[in-house]
This record gives sequence, structure tokens and C-alpha cells, in this order.
Amino acid sequence: MKTRVEKLFRLTDPRPDAIILANSVDPHLDGAFFWLFDVPSGLFEGSVAVAHPDGELDVWSSVLEAETARTAAKKDPHVRIHEFRAPSEAEEGLRKQLGSSRNLGLNNAEITHATYERLAKIFPDASWTDVSAPLRKARVTKDRVEIEHLTKAGEIGSKVATEIPDLLKDGTVELAVATEMNYRMMRHGASGPSFSTIVAFGPNSAEPHYFAGDRKLRSGDSIVCDFGAYCDRYASDITRSFHFGKRDDEMKAVHEKVEEAQQAALGLIRAGVAAKELHLAAQRVIDASPWRGRFTHGLGHSIGLRVHDGWGMNERSEDLLEEGMVVTVEPGIYLPGHGGVRIEDDVLVTKSGYRFLTTAPRGYHEVGA
Ligand code: GLY
Ligand code: MN
Ligand code: MN
Repeated sequence: MKTRVEKLFRLTDPRPDAIILANSVDPHLDGAFFWLFDVPSGLFEGSVAVAHPDGELDVWSSVLEAETARTAAKKDPHVRIHEFRAPSEAEEGLRKQLGSSRNLGLNNAEITHATYERLAKIFPDASWTDVSAPLRKARVTKDRVEIEHLTKAGEIGSKVATEIPDLLKDGTVELAVATEMNYRMMRHGASGPSFSTIVAFGPNSAEPHYFAGDRKLRSGDSIVCDFGAYCDRYASDITRSFHFGKRDDEMKAVHEKVEEAQQAALGLIRAGVAAKELHLAAQRVIDASPWRGRFTHGLGHSIGLRVHDGWGMNERSEDLLEEGMVVTVEPGIYLPGHGGVRIEDDVLVTKSGYRFLTTAPRGYHEVGA
């Protein structure tokens, strides 16, 4: 996409002669490859994109996806597809096109070392510039097409989130609920889950990055469901928390405190505000409560082609929010051995505020046992 290639070069100083984005084997695929080459499906293992300062893009596509690549390129006059059957053909093509380059850009954040070594053999005289910082900066604000994809992914996550209470039955296991959620996301139009779906019952809900397992649901459990959809290659990331059976302990108050913390952060969002201030606003709410210190992670992260798309919002963040960023806002309170609550939404930062991309109800919800 010419506008994205140009955006990247505008942010890259000094400018390399070209920027190479080289995929290895799944999951070591470069997100920036798919950011510059807007192609709806295909793995593109071993494929390489070369971005030029004039906005043009050359893509060496393996024969496995060549048809998909050509169809995508028909919609974009600034993309040229070169098909290869063996890696040596792509190497030869790259050497012919870029052999005289003195300086080439690489995305050090996503290329594997083995792939770098391959490129270094093709271009023994080139010097290399790491363009991962400008790439991160370019990708963190989204264009209209990206916002459309992210909105769709968020809508799918929200639909499934509203259906979760119907899946919560006495004795059901976490994995059964996660499987049904994954199925429903795909039924609503996702190409798959954007990461391994978290369904955590009881004490497991106090572990922020737990994976679904074989724990059975019991009356009195808190439940954390953290999941997201991939749609047109873009991710959503949403967490909703529930409570199973009548609770007579502190978890209702915990839930309400997490909602209050999320509201405190959301209320600050607009272009120009320091990301760190959002995190601190949520943290202050929780630290002023009986659960001081139980918010144990950063407030959120940018989201895009990857669920964690290069940038986090925490007390160390130095960046300011910019119009067009899409970030998660996900405070939580975790009581080890007992239970946890997290509420996570994806929001688009606007000049004067934000727009929710995920909309499912967030309030305390006690599902009948
Ligand atoms: N799904 C992991 C996270 O919320 O960051
Ligand atoms: Mn999440
Ligand atoms: Mn998240």
C-alpha cells in the first residue's frame, strides 16, 4: 500500500535504499509484511516484501499463495508480485533487484536471526538499518481501512462476549467454554481466534495469562474470559468477567472497583495525553481500595495486526496518545487462590476522546448456578 510505504519512509531517518520484510516459518511471520501488503488470506512463509522510497512494493510470493497475491495486487497498482518455487529463485530475484544497494532496512523486531543470515549472504556488501522503531510508530496509528477491520473484529468479540453467560453451566469445563467461544467467533465471521482463548474459573481467574484447562465450573466461582477474533488479519482483544452462583464475599465490590478503574482511565483518553497517565489513573483507583497492589500488569497495549502490536501502556510508557491509535484498556484485580476480575475493551483514540470498538456489557453479572 503506497500510503503506508510512504508513511514508513517519512518516519525513517536516515533513509535506506529499500526496506526488506522477510517472513520465516509460521509463527515467525513479519506483521509489517502484511501491513504493507494488504492481502486477506495466506501464510506467506518464506515470502519477502521490498518497500521502495517512491512507495512501490515488490513481493516475492511462494507459489502456495501466488494466486491470492496476484488477486490482491490487482487492486493495488503499486504492488508487483514475483512468484518463486524454491527459495533460491527469490534470492536470485532479490540480488538482481537490490544488488547495488548500499544500505537496506530490516525489521529487527520480527525477523529471525536465520533469515537475517540468509539476507546477509545475498547482500555481503550492504549495511543494515534497523527500522523497527519507525515501523512501530507508523503502525501504531491506524488508517481508515485498518479501523474498519478492527471495528469488525471488535464487533465479533462483543457478540460472543454477550453470549458467554448462556455457556456457563454447573460442571462445564473451561476448555469446553473456550472451544464454543472460538466456534462462535468463526461463525460470526472471524478467521480464527487472535490468541489462545482464556477461560479461567475460580482461583484460575486470579492468573492474568492463564490458558483454558480442565477445571469444572462450581457455584461461587469468579470467571474471566479473555479472547479475541481475527478478522481481515486484524485482531480484537476483549475480557469480560462473570460470577457463578450467589456470591457472599468481596467479588462484587472487586468487580465494581475494576469498572471504576477502567472509567478513570477512559475518561482521560484523547490525543495528546500521556499514555502513562491512563495507567496511573486506573492504578490510583485500585491502590486507594482494599485491593492495593492487586492490579499487577500494565493498563493496555496497542492492537492491530497482532494482539500485542508493539507498544504497551504502563507506568514506564513515554508516548503520548495520538489520534488513530487503537489500544486496549484492561485493568484487573487479582486475589491469588481466590479469584480475579478483568475488564478489557478496545478503543480508538480520537482528537477529543475515544470510540469503543468493543461494546458488550461490562457490569457485575451473577450467572445463576
Ligand atoms: N489477551 C492478553 C491481553 O489481554 O493482553
Ligand atoms: Mn485480552
Ligand atoms: Mn489485552
